[in-house]
Amino acid sequence: MLNFDRFYSKLGESFKPGVLTEIVLAAFELAKEGKKLISLTGGSYDPNSFAVEPIREILAEAGLDDWREMLQYGSNTGSMKLRSELSRFMSHTWINADPKSELIVTTGSQQALDLISRIFIDEGDIIVVGEPTYLQALSAFKQFNPQFKVVPLDNWGLDIDALRVELSTLEKNGKSPKFIYLVPSFDNPTSTVMPKDRRLALIDLAEEFDFLIVEDNPYGYISFEEPMPTPIKAYDKTGRVLYMSTFSKIVSPGLRIGWIAAHKEFISKMAEAKSNIDICTDGLSQYLAAELLRRNVVERQIDYITRIYKRKRDILLESMNAHFPKQAEWNEPKGGLFLWVKMPEKINTTTLLKEAVNKGVAYIPGSNFFLNPNIHNFLRLNYSYPSIADIEEGISILGKLFNNKLRE
Ligand SMILES: Cc1ncc(COP(=O)(O)O)c(C=O)c1O
Repeated sequence: MLNFDRFYSKLGESFKPGVLTEIVLAAFELAKEGKKLISLTGGSYDPNSFAVEPIREILAEAGLDDWREMLQYGSNTGSMKLRSELSRFMSHTWINADPKSELIVTTGSQQALDLISRIFIDEGDIIVVGEPTYLQALSAFKQFNPQFKVVPLDNWGLDIDALRVELSTLEKNGKSPKFIYLVPSFDNPTSTVMPKDRRLALIDLAEEFDFLIVEDNPYGYISFEEPMPTPIKAYDKTGRVLYMSTFSKIVSPGLRIGWIAAHKEFISKMAEAKSNIDICTDGLSQYLAAELLRRNVVERQIDYITRIYKRKRDILLESMNAHFPKQAEWNEPKGGLFLWVKMPEKINTTTLLKEAVNKGVAYIPGSNFFLNPNIHNFLRLNYSYPSIADIEEGISILGKLFNNKLRE
């Protein structure tokens, strides 16, 4: 029998099944018994709303030269055609990026997080994150053993006053962070939006205290009421902001198309780091992505999916009002894919997940989004993936479970 542990690096040893892996395994087990699991967990796409026909057309119309390019190795910064289309797409969101030097296509924006971690983080480096924050960003950064400084979020995103206090304390000790990571538009998990004055204040702080800003923006396009919030990158005059986004929430997570817009110095470093990981992002997906942008399918898809998610958000809110305990608190997401719930202290959402799964519904326990391991009374609910009927049924099941626990 192999002694597996002997072979692992420290990094290898640190990889343990995350909460989503466990939920997927539980779903398999339930399926074997003929039972279904309603998933209010990950940020998956609405399965009935993919742009299947336009994608079929694009592939049917591709010429021989297109296929030759798709099937060949490509540039480590991405196909020039896709970078040009992404540059045009971003210009509608007030970001200017030279497609030749200031853009890199990544294999999903998760790879962007990995690349950024690789080129910036040495063991012990200080990085700042809002809390709660995207769990897979935390795990990407953790690979390189940074020292995290945590700044709380309020109803308007990152608390800038708390950040200033943290930065001043660090400065007194002769330290400064490498970067701050945040999801300022329809945050994951809280769905908060940082207002313009905070975005500008953050840029000023970055200049004053000399750090970079990593702006992760998968959700900004999915805005139910207002136009998309202007990205922080649009206000960046010195190249301190690294902006990342993705096709995953607006077109398809299966295509694995993400990108980073940043200063050309950073792009060329990341391109070399990417060569070690996957050489280049796959050509078929890049071709499709470029054509979907060129034919304006992406913009139409954003309008379409936004309407669908708004309706699902409404149903979720109605169901929660009807079934969730009166002591629970949540805010109404104005965009994005998630609803963040605060339960009374008595409810431990981490330990209750198992019971919920046994009753046929899964959510993500809020503890996964905190570095502090002792916060257990939050949960994140996703409304993009489940059907309307499943949202109603799932929330009714969860409501009963939580109400019963409160009565115990
Ligand atoms: C904030 C945030 N960043 C990055 C990602 C990674 O997305 P992808 O790799 O599919 O582009 C996600 C996915 O849910 C996310 O929520």
